[in-house]
Amino acid sequence: MTTEHLTVVTHPLVQHKLTIMREKDTSTASFRQLLREISHLLAYEITRELPMTTKRIETPMEPMDAPQIEGKKLALISILRAGNGLLDGILELIPSARVGFVGLYRDPETLQPVQYYFKAPANLEDRVTIVVDPMLATGNSSAAAIDLIKQAGARDVRFMCLLAAPEGVARMKEAHPDVPIVTASLDSHLNDHGYIVPGLGDAGDRMFGTK
Ligand code: URA
Repeated sequence: MTTEHLTVVTHPLVQHKLTIMREKDTSTASFRQLLREISHLLAYEITRELPMTTKRIETPMEPMDAPQIEGKKLALISILRAGNGLLDGILELIPSARVGFVGLYRDPETLQPVQYYFKAPANLEDRVTIVVDPMLATGNSSAAAIDLIKQAGARDVRFMCLLAAPEGVARMKEAHPDVPIVTASLDSHLNDHGYIVPGLGDAGDRMFGTK
């Protein structure tokens, strides 16, 4: 399903893997592995419209103008810590990408993001920048992270997550209408603690085996 702002990747492989991830008894190892695998499939979707150019090469048969991605290497920005699960997968597909990190935690009372770390690649203004975080819940952290990335120069920004809540999508649309979102599911709603329902619980805890 695609609107101008949101693409839900309904491919059977993505949906099947996501179901296993959601199950509460799925092991940490399986959760991590499945996140990597889904990350490949979401990355495939989010890079679909990358600008292309051609390069003159010689095959063993003859010269040709062969397609390649235009411009500087992509920038991948992981919102710590759960973003690293998606980052690992996407880096397997795009190993030459430049990588940055935004450290934000969610104040449990206000649900507002508090920044504790920021490091971004150089020349963001010349790169397609993909921000990754598995859970688009309130959207506050994601919107704040993208504020920082834009302040650092990024102009072509995309956002990739595993699950999105309608509240998070609305917040992102309001704060960053120019940033397309790719997700594996648009879930029902947020609960009173800001968790996505039906969701999968705390993505970081499930990925790293913490509580
Ligand atoms: N972060 C998570 O890890 N899970 C949610 O449901 C919402 C935010």
